[in-house]
Amino acid sequence: MTSLEYQSGFGNSCSTEALPGALPIGRNSPQVCPYGLYAEQLSGTAFTVPRAESRRSWLYRIHPAALQKPFEPFEGATSWLHQFGSGPVTPNRLRWSPLEIPAAPTDFIEGMTTWAGNGNCDDLSGVSINLYVANRSMTGRFFYNADAEMLIVPQEGRLRLATELGLIDIEPCEIAVIPRGVRFRVEVLDATARGYMLENFGAVLRPPELGPIGSNGLANVRDFKTPVAWYEDVEGDFELVAKFTGGFWRTSLSHSPLDVVAWHGTNAPYKYDLRQFNTIGSISYDHPDPCIFTVLTSPSDTPGAANMDFAIFPPRVLVMENTFRPPWFHRNIAGEFMGLIQGVYDAKAEGFSPGGASLHNCMSPHGPDVDTFEKASTADISKPHYIRDTMAFMFETRRVIRPTSAALASEALQTDYDQAWAGFKKHFDPSKQ
Ligand SMILES: [Fe+2]
Repeated sequence: MTSLEYQSGFGNSCSTEALPGALPIGRNSPQVCPYGLYAEQLSGTAFTVPRAESRRSWLYRIHPAALQKPFEPFEGATSWLHQFGSGPVTPNRLRWSPLEIPAAPTDFIEGMTTWAGNGNCDDLSGVSINLYVANRSMTGRFFYNADAEMLIVPQEGRLRLATELGLIDIEPCEIAVIPRGVRFRVEVLDATARGYMLENFGAVLRPPELGPIGSNGLANVRDFKTPVAWYEDVEGDFELVAKFTGGFWRTSLSHSPLDVVAWHGTNAPYKYDLRQFNTIGSISYDHPDPCIFTVLTSPSDTPGAANMDFAIFPPRVLVMENTFRPPWFHRNIAGEFMGLIQGVYDAKAEGFSPGGASLHNCMSPHGPDVDTFEKASTADISKPHYIRDTMAFMFETRRVIRPTSAALASEALQTDYDQAWAGFKKHFDPSKQ
């Protein structure tokens, strides 16, 4: 049985049942649940956070999640790390070509490589940035992440996320978020899959406040999709892999953990189609800071300084007059990790390929490359400029983003990245205003 229906909205309390009457009425844990199900609460936030922050769901399932054997170490995720070091980080600007998809059978867990990160799960702060490649589905294997909620950004190949709370299909230009603890498997729907996966150790992701923008715009909440209840009643020999405090653990189950027949609440996975983003920008001159493109944010305890912002650079129309229209040169307090899902990013003429990545850390100067600068400086801006068929994104964090040794040693690292800015000519002439 498959069910690919979704419920619209963000942060709504959803109620969904795969069998009629499976949701108890009037109470969360009746003495006996319908259909002989077990009731279980899944909390994604502390019990006493403000109501608007609270994420918790009630699950009605065939077996309680507690029915599991002792865990033992799991050795199959050797490149998925949790340490980002504490020493100096190179101030160099870094860029990588896309990772090759291996020929050997590789699932979503086995094909995960940690590329950069900051903070740690123990402090409930920071992020881990990972790249994944896969060419087979997780078969007989399920996973949950107790350390972080997971933001999955496919770049190539569709994925089916079969979760305790329902099925989510995503393709490139869509994203999905899986809360801490939710058990799931990843099915590869095409021959190969590649993309980015951010672990958020901090406050749960949510769309940003809109301020003077008003009640519409950016990622409209109706476009977030939460799955309806779906379950499988399957017995067999299954493996459950857990990530906890940076370590990986495995145990065996004699049934599929995807056996939630009904659920209600606010703690659930969701997806969002980045092509639905209502892009807002200048209609006079200059352009706003890239935070205007924020899809989701994880706030920190400092107002306005996010643990992580997920921003995108989607197709858009540039109309600003007497303005250098591509992103300008800048140096930021933030750490900026960028990826490209498709097309060309408008600040780089070449070298930044779909599936690739770049890292510009605190106070490392960057911006348009020489070709982009020269073209934009002489472009006819009496007409709108249409940027089409592109989708870049940025994980921006308040802390320095520390590349892992795997990222720095990778053959995908472009050793000539500085050349992007090496050819700027001196245009200065004190006699000419
Ligand atoms: Fe930047």
